[in-house]
Amino acid sequence: MIDLRSDTVTKPTDAMRRAMAAAEVGDDMFGEDPTVRRLEDRFCELTGKPAAVFVPSGTMANQLAIRAQTEPGDEVITHADNHIIHYESGGPAALAGVMLALAPGPRGVFGADEVRALVRADDPHCPVTRLVALENTHNRGGGRVWPREQVREVVETSHALGLRVHIDGARIWNAAIASGRPVAELVGAADSVSACFSKGLGAPVGSILASDAPTIKRARRFRKMFGGAMRQAGVLAAAALHALDHHFDRLVEDHAGARRLAERLAALPGVRLDPSEVETNIVYFGLADGRRSAPEICTALKQAGVLVLPVGPDRIRAVTHLDVSPSQIERAALAAAEVLGR
Ligand SMILES: Cc1ncc(COP(=O)(O)O)c(C=O)c1O
Repeated sequence: MIDLRSDTVTKPTDAMRRAMAAAEVGDDMFGEDPTVRRLEDRFCELTGKPAAVFVPSGTMANQLAIRAQTEPGDEVITHADNHIIHYESGGPAALAGVMLALAPGPRGVFGADEVRALVRADDPHCPVTRLVALENTHNRGGGRVWPREQVREVVETSHALGLRVHIDGARIWNAAIASGRPVAELVGAADSVSACFSKGLGAPVGSILASDAPTIKRARRFRKMFGGAMRQAGVLAAAALHALDHHFDRLVEDHAGARRLAERLAALPGVRLDPSEVETNIVYFGLADGRRSAPEICTALKQAGVLVLPVGPDRIRAVTHLDVSPSQIERAALAAAEVLGR
C-alpha cells in the first residue's frame, strides 16, 4: 500500500529506534529527564522563545496554548478553517471555555483587517478578545505557507490591540523549508508557537509548545491537569531530536513529490486542482464532474494500492512524507490516472 492519507503514518526508522533505545531518561515531572530538557532547549533556540514544554500531541500543544493564555468566557480570533475548530474535539470550548470568532480568508490565511473587524469592544456585554490563533502551514488550506509579511502585520496589529498571538506550527518545519527562512523568523514576535515531531519529521509521538516563561509555567500546570504530563519521556524526545537532525532538510523532497503528484492529478479529466498552489506536502483536489463521489474514488484507489483521504463529498487529500519514495509517488499518479480516467 502507498499510504498518502497523512504525514502522521510514518514509522520510526531503525536509526531513530536506536536513538530512542540509547536515550538518557529520568522522571520529567520532577524535571529530571535530560533528553526532554535537551529537546525543549533546542526548540527554544529554533524559535527564539525563552521556554518550552514537550507534550504528547499537537492537539495538546494547541489546547495548552489556548488555556494558558485565556480565561473562560474569553474569545479567540482564528480562521474558520483552522485545526483547532475542526479537528480538536471541541477542545477550546471544553478545556478552556472560550468562544471563537472566525476570520475569513483564502486558504487559511487572514490579515490585520480581519483582526480589527473581529476584536470586541471593551464593553461588559461582550466577551474579552484575548488571543489570535493562526496556523502555518495551513492544513485545510492545502499546506499553504503564511506570507511572512502577513504574519508580521497580524502580530503587530494584535499586540497593538492588546491581544496575544499563537501559531499552530504543527508543520512549521515545512513552512521553513518551503520559504527558505529559519523557524525563528517565521514565528517572529508571536507569543506562542506549537510544533509537531510526529508529522513530516517522522517521529512516532510528540509535539512541543514554546512561549515566555510565565506562560510555559502555566501550560505545565494545565498539561498535568489534562493528563499529558509524562515520566521517562526521553525515549520520545530522543526520536524528536533525531528527526530534527536527520529529517528536517529532507522535507524538500516531500514538497517536490507533492508538486509532481499535483501536476499529474491536475492533468486528469474531472480533477479540480491548481498545482501552483501546492507549496509544501499537502495536495487537496476536487472532483469536478459529479460522476463519482470522493469516497467512491478513494475506495477504487485503495483497490489499486493507494490510500488517500476523502475530506468531503467531492474533495480528496493526499500527503507526501518520509515513508513514500519518488517511485511510489509515480505509481500513485499512474493509479490515479487509471481510476479517474475510467
Ligand atoms: C495544523 C495541525 N495542528 C494540530 C494538529 C494536531 O496534532 P495531533 O494529531 O498530534 O494532535 C494537526 C494534526 O494533523 C494539524 O494538522
